[in-house]
Amino acid sequence: MRLPISSNTHVLVLTGAGISAESGVPTFRDAGGLWEGHDVERVASPRGFFDDPLLVWRFYSERRAALTGIVPNAGHRALVDLEARLGDRFLLVTQNIDGLHLAAGSQRVVEIHGNLMRSRCTRCDRPSFADTTAYRAGVAPMCGRCKQRGEDSILRPDVVWFGEPVVKDALPRIETFVDAAGAHLVFLAIGTSGLVYPSASFVDVTRRAGGTSWLVNLEASANADRFDHVVLGKASQELPALFAT
Ligand code: OAD
Repeated sequence: MRLPISSNTHVLVLTGAGISAESGVPTFRDAGGLWEGHDVERVASPRGFFDDPLLVWRFYSERRAALTGIVPNAGHRALVDLEARLGDRFLLVTQNIDGLHLAAGSQRVVEIHGNLMRSRCTRCDRPSFADTTAYRAGVAPMCGRCKQRGEDSILRPDVVWFGEPVVKDALPRIETFVDAAGAHLVFLAIGTSGLVYPSASFVDVTRRAGGTSWLVNLEASANADRFDHVVLGKASQELPALFAT
């Protein structure tokens, strides 16, 4: 099957953990996935961070360390090529925090759940900053800017936790794109279980806009029956075929 692309087609892509699985990044909900061995409330919620910031930092420090040597795969690269064809008629929304789309060379990227390799202050309005440190030493990292003002404020990873809204500018950017696309919208979800909102509702937004929806996933996701087209298979194999000219 080929994705139908004409001169006014706008492609909105949503990726989840499945696209990075073939690079060696564990998914969340599959057998052996990241959430299997962890209490989500303790390591990925504001309450968990308030209760035990060091435990949360240990968890995300392990995630940072695990990204060492991880590189994008053919699925990520196929999306770079698609963007080169479409330009501003392309928008890539990712739930992944691994930064692999940016590493591959994608430019129009919305990291809706943040980025593992960035940190921000829990108190001041300093913008988030690149931070690859794996904090293992039993001391939570503190904000240097707050310290200069004589305040002690803890840093947190720049990722979205359960119970938190998605990244601030993400939804307005997606809305603007969907409005511009109208019925020319083609929505393509890749490697996501379809369980986490708001991303799981983009398929419904597409239907309301009069667009067409496609799913590429290893197995039928929770919202698969709401898609117009479902391709079961590995992203690295299916995407290059789907985008063939
Ligand atoms: P999940 O782990 O829930 O789902 C990954 C999906 O990818 C599954 O449906 C797999 O069948 C599929 N999959 C695995 N390997 C694949 C491959 N090679 N090609 C295609 N599909 C493949 O991950 P997400 O849906 O991304 O949020 O999870 C959504 C959010 O839940 C995450 O961003 C994270 C998590 O809790 C937060 O941490 C806020």
